[in-house]
Amino acid sequence: MKMKKQLSLLLATALVATVAMTGCGGRGTSETKETEAVTTTEETTTEETTTAEPEKGFAADATIGVSLPWLGTQNWKEADEMFKTQLEAAGFKAIVQAADNKVPQQQQQIESMIQNGVKVIVVGPVDGTQLGSVLEEAAAAGIAVIGYDRLLENTTGVDGVVQFGSVKTGELQGQALLDGLAKVKGEGPYNIELFGGGPADPNAPNFFKGAMSVLQPKIDDGTLVVVSGQTDFTQCATPDWDNSKAQARMDSLLSGFYSDKEIHGVLSPNDGIARAIITASEQAGQEIPVVSGLDAENESVQWVWSGRQYSTVAKPTDALVSKTIEIIKSLQAGNGMPAPDTNVNNGKKDVGVFELPPVVVTKENAKEIFANDPGRLDLLK
Ligand code: BGC
Repeated sequence: MKMKKQLSLLLATALVATVAMTGCGGRGTSETKETEAVTTTEETTTEETTTAEPEKGFAADATIGVSLPWLGTQNWKEADEMFKTQLEAAGFKAIVQAADNKVPQQQQQIESMIQNGVKVIVVGPVDGTQLGSVLEEAAAAGIAVIGYDRLLENTTGVDGVVQFGSVKTGELQGQALLDGLAKVKGEGPYNIELFGGGPADPNAPNFFKGAMSVLQPKIDDGTLVVVSGQTDFTQCATPDWDNSKAQARMDSLLSGFYSDKEIHGVLSPNDGIARAIITASEQAGQEIPVVSGLDAENESVQWVWSGRQYSTVAKPTDALVSKTIEIIKSLQAGNGMPAPDTNVNNGKKDVGVFELPPVVVTKENAKEIFANDPGRLDLLK
């Protein structure tokens, strides 16, 4: 009898050690409960290991929530589709919703994901700063929160962010504009205008900052002339990333400053805005200016191929979604967040960022860039 008890104590201790070492809590299984009851004397060992590896893991068929800001650009539509299919293919259940660019709608959607018992919430915020309390509520409920494509600011309720380098994206846009001007418009100086993205999106000021790090020295030495004088992000931003607002601003820049001048180039933060800028220029009777872009949207890939838009930047959605799912699988297995590439302070904490490389696309390299993307490759003809 005594022997048997000792043996079971030994076995139970071994089990605790294994569970603690692998970080798999197996929360709620009767096995673990029994183990915990028998091994109260082992508290010190268990506690030490628990502190080093607090993540518990969760069921392989758990529900994962994905909250997207809107479906207004191709990248978000792709993310909507890919999260649904790839999360299910990985064995999870998925709740994927988009918030129509409205902060309260996104807050409610996240709130209901919490009520539905999701284990991870993936968030592309409408406004990087407005989800602080709902995400902290999620974190308090033991839900892991991963920022997707955009940083989650001013909250402790975030475990990591997956995105394409946002300052790097802007640098590529600025450099593409400079290269395009030299290539297409002959000798400078060049008349240009600057556009930014939606000011609530934390990417938008970073895209602009990256681009200006390349363009500002050329403005200073006179190679580039911003004829309107509008060079601050706040003057150049496009509320809500709304293409029609960008087109209206371009119309008034052209009628106000270019009635007797050619416009040679425009910095554009994404493809939808690039097409709005190009359309406004054509309608004003201008030669098409050199315009940058972002997202490699189908329509813009065709415009780049036909020479109507000079460049775009590819940031493949499937790579970003796969990276996110890889992190979710690590959390599920109880292995915690993998090591990030870099850290960014979000105003409340240092957040680990998993950063993928964006690539510039022009007519010259398009076939090469899309070699493994049959859908886009097919547009190059
Ligand atoms: C994304 C871009 C997108 C823009 C507007 C940004 O945060 O990085 O890919 O074009 O939002 O939807």
